[in-house]
Amino acid sequence: MTETDDQTPAESANLSALSDLCTPWCIHVVATLRIADHIAAGITAIKTLADKAECNADFLQRVLRHLVCKGVFVEPTPGQFALNEAARGLLGPTQQFLDLGGIGGRIAYAWGSLLSAVRTGAPAYHEIFGLPFWEDLQAHPDVAASFDALMGSAGHSTPNPEVLLTGDWEEVKTVVDVGGGTGALLAEILCAHPQIQGTLVDFPGTVARAGSILQEAGVSERVRTVGQSFFDPLPAGGDLYLLKSILNDWPDREAQLILSRCAEAARPSGRLMILGGVLPDGSVNSLLTPEIVLLGGKDRTLNEFRELAHQAGLKVQAVGQLPSGCFAVECHPM
Ligand SMILES: C[S@@+](CC[C@H](N)C(=O)[O-])C[C@H]1O[C@@H](n2cnc3c(N)ncnc32)[C@H](O)[C@@H]1O
Repeated sequence: MTETDDQTPAESANLSALSDLCTPWCIHVVATLRIADHIAAGITAIKTLADKAECNADFLQRVLRHLVCKGVFVEPTPGQFALNEAARGLLGPTQQFLDLGGIGGRIAYAWGSLLSAVRTGAPAYHEIFGLPFWEDLQAHPDVAASFDALMGSAGHSTPNPEVLLTGDWEEVKTVVDVGGGTGALLAEILCAHPQIQGTLVDFPGTVARAGSILQEAGVSERVRTVGQSFFDPLPAGGDLYLLKSILNDWPDREAQLILSRCAEAARPSGRLMILGGVLPDGSVNSLLTPEIVLLGGKDRTLNEFRELAHQAGLKVQAVGQLPSGCFAVECHPM
């Protein structure tokens, strides 16, 4: 008797449901085709929906009927589709982030490299897209812009300017946001603290997209944008260096190098705030995040982080939860 023969029907049905890729792909497809938007605009018949979305009516109907069975969309009369609560969730930014042509598509396809990643212990994103993740984004500015939008979206994390655990803002004259994306967090901090000057460090293409965010916030006069790699020496002499959602992208060797670059730039009197990617000791989060297939990165416990920081010449000075709910770690150069 094989192991499969031993399984109860409920156990094998559960595994089938857990390993079903059909429903996630159907959701990505209708999001890419903007079907929820079209229905919200009053186009409900399958033929006109398919014409509007420039796709095949029969195949689209099969996809929509599958989703109706799964509780997304309703079909009040045959061949006519309508939004229900779940389908309304597709309206707005969610739809954009599920679009297979943007960052949502990159993440979806990247899961196909998990087996290679597990075999080798390194990301295998390049096997699918031909380039490592960040290089692929630099080569595709439209996908990179969709990534920036995801990072700046409320769903990811609303930038909250209260990022200090100790001391007060009077001591801070310059903030350097390392890997600061298109500047959403830096803009919030500078808005809240008019005496502060900011430096935004990220890839040249990314900081070039920061202009409108900084201008809308009215802070562009106080921000210097620096297009460079954070693996190279960083602008020195800042009072506060921020690393938000950066270290969890990277394996230990690279994470340590980024920390070392921050330590040498912050020396002797600056400090470093790590926002995100470090978990309080004792808290366990075993669920995988896309970092494993995109970049090989991971969250670290505070103890694991302390070790990394020590090797990078940094000492953990304070830890705690910020008003945003983010667990933060403050480090000082040794
Ligand atoms: C997960 S995003 C976080 C962005 C921002 N800190 C936030 O929390 O919204 C990682 C950022 O690191 C930047 N990045 C990745 N590799 C980099 C490198 N070698 N040098 C500079 N920036 C890099 C990316 O462009 C991206 O903006």
